Amino acid sequence: MGGPDVKTVSTKPYEGQKPGTSGLRKKTKTFMQENFVENFVQSTFDALDGDADTTGELLVLGGDGRYFNKDMTQTIIRMAYANGVAKVLVGQHGLISTPAVSHLVRSKGAAGAFILTASHNPAGPNEDCGIKYNSRNGGPAPESVTSAIYERTKTISEYRIADLPEVDLAEIGETKFGDSFSVEVIDATETYAQLMDEVFDLGEIKDFLSRDDFVFTYDAMHGVAGPFAKRIFHEELGVPLEQLLNCEPLEDFGGGHPDPNLTYAHDLVECMGLDQKGMPLKGVDPESLPDFGAAADGDADRNMILGKQFFVTPSDSLAVIANNAECIKYFKDGLKTVARSMPTSGAADRVAEEKDMKFFETPTGWKYFGNLMDAKELTGGKKDYNPVLCGEESFGTGSSHIREKDGIFAVLCWLNILAAKNEPSAPLVTVEDVVREHWDTFGRNYYTRYDYENVDADLAQKVMSRLNGIIFMFEVSNRAPVDIGAGFTLANCDEFEFHDEVDGSVSPHQGWRFLMEDGSRFVFRLSGTGSVGATIRLYIERYSKDDTSQETASALESLVQLALDFSDLHAITGREGPTVIT
Ligand code: G6P
Ligand code: ZN
Repeated sequence: MGGPDVKTVSTKPYEGQKPGTSGLRKKTKTFMQENFVENFVQSTFDALDGDADTTGELLVLGGDGRYFNKDMTQTIIRMAYANGVAKVLVGQHGLISTPAVSHLVRSKGAAGAFILTASHNPAGPNEDCGIKYNSRNGGPAPESVTSAIYERTKTISEYRIADLPEVDLAEIGETKFGDSFSVEVIDATETYAQLMDEVFDLGEIKDFLSRDDFVFTYDAMHGVAGPFAKRIFHEELGVPLEQLLNCEPLEDFGGGHPDPNLTYAHDLVECMGLDQKGMPLKGVDPESLPDFGAAADGDADRNMILGKQFFVTPSDSLAVIANNAECIKYFKDGLKTVARSMPTSGAADRVAEEKDMKFFETPTGWKYFGNLMDAKELTGGKKDYNPVLCGEESFGTGSSHIREKDGIFAVLCWLNILAAKNEPSAPLVTVEDVVREHWDTFGRNYYTRYDYENVDADLAQKVMSRLNGIIFMFEVSNRAPVDIGAGFTLANCDEFEFHDEVDGSVSPHQGWRFLMEDGSRFVFRLSGTGSVGATIRLYIERYSKDDTSQETASALESLVQLALDFSDLHAITGREGPTVIT
């Protein structure tokens, strides 16, 4: 058989190639070390056996366009050939959003995908890079696969690579190498746009967007969302290009931090007339502001939804979409299942209860939702129609149309809901109206998250030991409720442990929970997506049935203080406050 030569290269293991919540994520300089990428990619090919084996199969390859991705793309193509893959489908310029990769794997019957992204982390020579492997179902590889990859990285001694010429990633089309391998460069926005057309009534949304009292704006934050946003919002839905901000993917995301939250998406937040706490800015003329704003992260799987001077928490966004699911084509025969991650607020639980939907609470990480989506018997759906809606407080929303969260999908859900609620000649029903109506019906889960980024790992450990100590004390006092001041009684506390009903797996240590008698709670977790030090997250929630119009900060003030006192977080870490509040 003719074809480029394959060589076997000796290598030595690198320590710490353990995939985290979403793949391997490290400083770019770490990725640029000799054989670092090759080791991880070869370990992945080696670990994929049985049904996951990629020999003779199709592989999808794309990323968020960050610095060093182009080099990694060429390396992976050469290694795919050397490891017996039949064909690689790669995005033009190496670009494919994470949701679009998931859809391509599913719709093209690929064995899996390499996604080159560190998601919402900044990019550049001094910032972050990432590689994540997704399985045949289009979702992140399960723990069994990622730990097999990690085990392999510890002992790897050689990798295989082919002597392939550089593939021109700018040129759409298929190139054959030898008799048994080809690389096809595709415009990934094409199949993704078709999918969105299946999931939504784009015509209805387009009509709504043509109202002259409704202005939509979108911030792609110079990540991979840009080309997808242009394709869907401009080409399909007629939004003027000048309302689509930062839609040119840049290798360093323009120096920004492509995380769609109140702190990092500051340009959009200001453009919507909000301050960084999500409160209305004083002295702006509301008439001059857009009516709807949304942003994406680097790989376009996250979303932030904003109304005119109004921030929608991701937890509320999930609940509102669940409650209005029938407005969305994909759910029109009935949404039967809703799931949220543990730290996400309980707003969606109330909708599920009211509407008699199945409800699941999973640990943080999208992969846990994939099992639910694939387990039709559990979610009670029909064979080919089994819609599941999922969401996370970390600005992730998605459904069973793919196996990743989907930033543009979330925005289209909102536009579809607004389209359904608005009559052509009646006054505009706004984002804020929809959310306030929701609170009037279900009550409000006041919610905030404090992030303490880049904390010294030992100090973070001290905080966690203290929390473990409190949980231990609670256990030994027979779990008797304790008055902890400010009107709160601690009714329960534990470390969240997840028992997956689908595959029987157990995921321990998923966050420290402190539950009050009135349903309020605070939760601590260590982030799994950082690349240096530790990030401590503190999630705070208080439910009120009738009192729904307070400012979040004041509604939660005493609970925040209790959480800080409990953990002694500021004294132990030497911090005076969080790095980010969402
Ligand atoms: C990624 C995953 C999400 C998860 C988030 C948590 O974005 O795809 O499913 O919620 O990470 O990040 P953290 O930094 O809190 O571990
Ligand atoms: Zn992401």
